[in-house]
Amino acid sequence: MTTIAPRVFSGVQPTGNLHLGNYLGAIRRFVPLQDQYDCLYCVVDLHAITVWQDPAELARNIREVTAAYLASGIDPRRSIVFNQSQVSAHAELAWIFNCVARLGWLNRMTQFKEKAGKDRENVSVGLYDYPVLMAADILAYRATHVPVGEDQKQHLELTRDIAQKFNVDFGPRIAELGLGDAFFPLAEPLIQGPAPRVMSLRDGSKKMSKSDPSDNSRITLTDDADAISSKIRKAKTDSEALPSEVAGLDGRPEAENLVTIFAALSGIERADVLKDFGGGNFSTFKSALADLAVAKMGPIGAEMKRLMADEAHIDGVLRDGAERANAIAEPVMRDVKAIVGFIGSR
Ligand code: AMP
Ligand code: TRP
Repeated sequence: MTTIAPRVFSGVQPTGNLHLGNYLGAIRRFVPLQDQYDCLYCVVDLHAITVWQDPAELARNIREVTAAYLASGIDPRRSIVFNQSQVSAHAELAWIFNCVARLGWLNRMTQFKEKAGKDRENVSVGLYDYPVLMAADILAYRATHVPVGEDQKQHLELTRDIAQKFNVDFGPRIAELGLGDAFFPLAEPLIQGPAPRVMSLRDGSKKMSKSDPSDNSRITLTDDADAISSKIRKAKTDSEALPSEVAGLDGRPEAENLVTIFAALSGIERADVLKDFGGGNFSTFKSALADLAVAKMGPIGAEMKRLMADEAHIDGVLRDGAERANAIAEPVMRDVKAIVGFIGSR
């Protein structure tokens, strides 16, 4: 067995409205991984354009995601922070994987079905192909661990299927070139954590999302204290008191979501949150949650705004990151091209 060195890769789309779900489900979890792994944190701008993006807004949003990474504690000297479009391996490997992945596999992707909705004939081909590009992101660095929110689980399964089929289809050739017995790792999703799926504040059955038309459905990372408090105050609840035990949250998605957010922000278990607030009414709980959210998220938003005012610094971080990312992906791409049988690459 060849062993592939552990490496973390994850990405966030620069599509605006970065929110508490992105933070708790993904970005915050990227930070401690830096102590244990070599990490790449990407701003996936090629993914963003699968739906229309105004060019000036896109540029702003790329800097905003970068600022969110840095403000949350990602250290660009230790980790590689960059935007996807600046490393050509992503698009190149996606093409090769387009010829490995099967149409039937993509037809099963639930996120495409949700995003395309009834207007299937009119969405971009890129939106359909999105998960193949995601596999290329991860495998261009032969990354082994991928921290993401729960909604990305199916895409990670597809990534493993693509890696596996490539390894098998080209098995003899990989061996012949002395590249071991499996060229690509089967990357593991890292989904555990206190809030893998943060729900909308307006509807506990929908996930908190950048594209929800209601701004009150999400707390964005740049909301100020007043906005955070007001959104929590307006959050939908039911008419019962809070339960004293976690089991009492069953069938009460809005209550469950707010308790989960409280637990994730405070670092205590949901059971302990309910020990403090069980039996009480929502207004007391909401005001404690608002204070907590302002204390935890306020400084991150302020730091993001400070960083975004210095475009030259952000752009410098991205440029340096792209250079280091390229240095890892280029030799991988040379091997991939040789494996496939393209001449001229090695
Ligand atoms: P996206 O905004 O789609 O680029 O997502 C970036 C990261 O945030 C991914 O790892 C998602 O799984 C995660 N994420 C997005 N929405 C949520 C949510 N409501 N709850 C938890 N994680 C989320
Ligand atoms: N599809 C992910 C999302 O929307 C973003 C993403 C793109 C990603 N490429 C990735 C996440 C590679 C992890 C690894 O949330």
